[in-house]
Amino acid sequence: MIDIFGPKSLLGLDIGSSSIKAVQLKDLKTGYELELFDFLPIDSDLIVENVVADSEKLSGAIRALVKKAKIKTKNTVISISGHSSVIIKRITLPDMTEEVLNENIRYEAEQYVPFGIDDVNLDYQILGPAEEPGQIDVILVAVKKDVLSSYISAVKDAGLTPVIVDVDAFTLENMYGANYKTEASRSVALLNVGASNTTINILKSGISAFTRDSSIGSRNHTEALMNQFSLSYEDAERIKAGATVNGITPEQAAPVLDSVSEDIVMEINHSLDFFSDSPEMEAIEGLWLGGGGALVKGLKEKLSDMTGYPVTLLNPFKDIKIPKGIDAAYLASIAPIATIAVGLATRRLGDR
Ligand SMILES: Nc1ncnc2c1ncn2[C@@H]1O[C@H](COP(=O)(O)OP(=O)(O)OP(=O)(O)O)[C@@H](O)[C@H]1O
Ligand SMILES: [Mg+2]
Repeated sequence: MIDIFGPKSLLGLDIGSSSIKAVQLKDLKTGYELELFDFLPIDSDLIVENVVADSEKLSGAIRALVKKAKIKTKNTVISISGHSSVIIKRITLPDMTEEVLNENIRYEAEQYVPFGIDDVNLDYQILGPAEEPGQIDVILVAVKKDVLSSYISAVKDAGLTPVIVDVDAFTLENMYGANYKTEASRSVALLNVGASNTTINILKSGISAFTRDSSIGSRNHTEALMNQFSLSYEDAERIKAGATVNGITPEQAAPVLDSVSEDIVMEINHSLDFFSDSPEMEAIEGLWLGGGGALVKGLKEKLSDMTGYPVTLLNPFKDIKIPKGIDAAYLASIAPIATIAVGLATRRLGDR
């Protein structure tokens, strides 16, 4: 059947440890138009170490966001992240048909997955012929079953229908593809600094060559302010966003934030070192920085000073048509927090 209305948009729901974001995109002939963007901060005890810690409260929060944003769509795309829940490996195998690979993937995966093979859901994608003749490059993804099912139940309990589960690192690729032109033979490193995770995906000619999640994020900024100035979580968050609270000015907070930014950049450097040791190594042209952590004053500058690469702030709405009635200036000012959600919202049923 030909669907004259084109593929239906899905709800991209990014369930982060500090806030839940919702994005929906309408397909235009030339790209996308923003149908919906909204977010809701959540308490820090709902998601702990990338695992749903309070399912009831989480589905309540999702329900609240659905109400606040007047979301009508049920079919939802979510994603999972975190080095202890998701394993992503690029592997090279002898050339084989999709059918044969399907039969062998469990066996092949066993040596790369540090958990019991029965405890994970496996997926893979054939990238194409490898450099060595007779070999193919494959991306292997293993997600812990219990982690996956905890997110799926929370989303279902909120009245939504999860139809695709992605991983944060890959959503960066889709968000980038929707907004930035990828030229052949260039490598770019996409970064998302969230509250609890920093995710990196290095694209070579538009294809993922390396991904890594590490468990440092902008929550470390918040906690450093809380400790240094004996502040509540909420007050520390307000200072991060530029307010003066309890007589503590952003200027006083700056050195504390800078010191955590250094730790985050050291971790990013560590990831870049991993990549430069890999056979895919190629000169990286620059770093693109997204996630709510990208908004912390001074992080972008630290990143370029300490890595030596030019750094661009990601704008996941850059090439997306913004309808009248949505405050474009406000959107631009907080855009990096929508990095993952926009990537999720580009997915369509049966797209790969
Ligand atoms: N305007 C701002 N200024 C400074 N920091 C900000 C701003 N907005 C958000 N942040 C910070 O960004 C972080 C949240 O980023 P993000 O929404 O990407 O994380 P998350 O998806 O909730 O977490 P994760 O995916 O790591 O579990 C918080 O630590 C928050 O303090
Ligand atoms: Mg996140």
